[in-house]
Amino acid sequence: MIINRGPNNAFYALNSRCSHQSCIVEALDSSTNLINCFCHGSIFAIDGRRIAGPASSALSKYALTFDGSNLLEIKIPGLGYTITASSVQSADQAIPRIRLDFRSLRNVDYEVLFRESLDKEATVIPFSLTPADTADQTVFSAPTSASVSLFVDRTSPSGFYSIAVRLTEA
Ligand code: FES
Repeated sequence: MIINRGPNNAFYALNSRCSHQSCIVEALDSSTNLINCFCHGSIFAIDGRRIAGPASSALSKYALTFDGSNLLEIKIPGLGYTITASSVQSADQAIPRIRLDFRSLRNVDYEVLFRESLDKEATVIPFSLTPADTADQTVFSAPTSASVSLFVDRTSPSGFYSIAVRLTEA
């Protein structure tokens, strides 16, 4: 995926697979404001529109919303996860824990978010990779796609957990 930011906080989340023959296109060239596919020379605009062939169509886009300050939400069809909100009991742990299971994608950074209620802001919370370790990690990433279990301390009697993809600005 490529996420481009245009003037006035116009964001574009684009499938990085070229619409010609599925090569991975380059990141936006900041000097030309264009996206190149060097496989066969297709060129796309910042919003994925086709500028030049042989691709005959635009890069496909993902629906997104931006809250105007710091939250960008991108909907990726088929990228789902389930959270197994099972309590983990361990003699070593004074605080009850919750295990979150999901399927991670290769080289994607994930964070665990928690909000006490839907009208509260979500915050990043620490996790561990085993039921017994101290929850002191904040970013999960793996070199291959995998089924992952993360363990968080249950510090509130109720609330909502989510797994978020962490994005960094290039
Ligand atoms: S795959 Fe991109 S131009 Fe052919």
